[in-house]
Amino acid sequence: MNKKRVAILISGRGSNMMALIEAARARDYPAAIVLVVSNRPEAVGLGRARQAGIATAVVDHAPFGDNREAFERALDRVLQQHRVDLVCLAGFMRLLTPWFVARWSGRMLNIHPALLPQFKGLHTHRRALEAGVKRHGATVHFVVSEMDAGPIVEQASIAVSEGDTEETLAKRVLEVEHRIYPRALRAVAEGRAKLPPSNSKAASY
Ligand code: GRF
Repeated sequence: MNKKRVAILISGRGSNMMALIEAARARDYPAAIVLVVSNRPEAVGLGRARQAGIATAVVDHAPFGDNREAFERALDRVLQQHRVDLVCLAGFMRLLTPWFVARWSGRMLNIHPALLPQFKGLHTHRRALEAGVKRHGATVHFVVSEMDAGPIVEQASIAVSEGDTEETLAKRVLEVEHRIYPRALRAVAEGRAKLPPSNSKAASY
């Protein structure tokens, strides 16, 4: 099988990264995780990736200051060196410029801890509780220039109950994340889910 070569971009603990690494161990999985890149040298996920036998790289954004594109060019060089086909953002806490997004258009996924288009941005669990929603969840989507707005590839939800707190919600939503990200990557790697050419909101299957 000609497996797609995948890089995972992280900034932190990397639990979604681990879910993807574990899924990709299956022989029939259509993608291989060939690289984990962090923009933060201290990211806990880097050690976890190394332990799992995955190549890691750090492209620290700090020395680039405000020059986002220069940071992204450095990042892109590392991705090219590893002949990466697809990029998965997994808790990668940098906004990407239109240049980078266009370069990886249709080949870059992100996971967001809410049922998009609800609760884009940060503090999704707190905002879900404040809004009183009865269901909450997670979404994997193609990355487009507008933050958390790309066509949806996978989404799953959980019920919100009376006693839920930000922490209990975060925990249950994280379990959902770990389930749907490997599914979404499989669909994209197999060419079943594609970024539609128009501005349609649904990824075509
Ligand atoms: C996840 O909740 C993800 O949805 C969000 O950032 C968090 C990253 O967690 N984008 P982890 O590093 O994968 O454990």
